Amino acid sequence: MNITIALPKGRLLDDALGVLAQAGLAVPEDLRHSRRLIWQAQLDEVPVRLLVIRAADVATFVERGAADCGIVGRDLLLEHRPRVYEPISLAIGRCRLCVAAPEEVARRGLPPAGTRIRVATKYGRIASEWFARRGVLADVIHLYGSIELAPLVGLADRIVDLVETGATLRANGLVEEATIAEISARWIVNPASWATKRSTMHMLAERLSASL
Ligand code: PRP
Repeated sequence: MNITIALPKGRLLDDALGVLAQAGLAVPEDLRHSRRLIWQAQLDEVPVRLLVIRAADVATFVERGAADCGIVGRDLLLEHRPRVYEPISLAIGRCRLCVAAPEEVARRGLPPAGTRIRVATKYGRIASEWFARRGVLADVIHLYGSIELAPLVGLADRIVDLVETGATLRANGLVEEATIAEISARWIVNPASWATKRSTMHMLAERLSASL
C-alpha cells in the first residue's frame, strides 16, 4: 500500500529530508530546489508520495487524511491542536517559544495580574492562554513574520515568537523574558492511516526512533 508524507517548506525541509533519508527513504535529488509540490519516492518496496507544503498547513493535510503522515514543528501543534497522533519527537527543528520585549520593558519584569498588554505573534492562542494564566489580558496582534519589529515601532508591548540562536532578538534590542515551551519537530500521523497502513507506519516509526 502506498503512503503520502507531508513535508514542511522552509527552514525545516532540509533536516526533515535528512531524517527521512536516514529512515531509508530515497529522496529525489532536485526536490529541495524545485517549485514542484508533489514527488514520487520509495521506502523499500512501498511507493511514497511526498507533498511539499507550507509548514503551517502540514497538520491540516494530515488531520484530513490528504497525507498519511508528516513532519511539523511542535509550535504549530500547540497552537492549532489538530487531531493527529504525535508518536515521535524528532531531533530536528530545536528551538523555544518565548516571550520577549525591549530591554527597558523587560527590566520592569513581566506584567502584573490585572493588567492588559499588546502582544504581537503568530501564536495567538498560546500567547493569550499563557498570559491569561497569569491574570494578564493579552490583546493579540496577529502577524505573519518579522514579529520582532512590532515593539520597535509601537505596534505591541511584547512578542511571543520562536527563538533559536537569539540572533534576531539581539539584532533588534529585544530580550527573552520567559520560555513558554521547548520546541522540536514531530512526526505526526493521521489516526485512520495509523490503523489501515499499520505495517508501513510502524516500520517508519521504528526507523525514525532508531535514527534519533
Ligand atoms: C524565525 C522566528 C524568529 C527567528 C529566530 O523567523 O520567527 O524571527 O527565526 O531565530 P534566531 O533566534 O536564530 O534569530 P524566520 O526566520 O522563520 O522568519 P519570519 O520572521 O518571517 O517568521
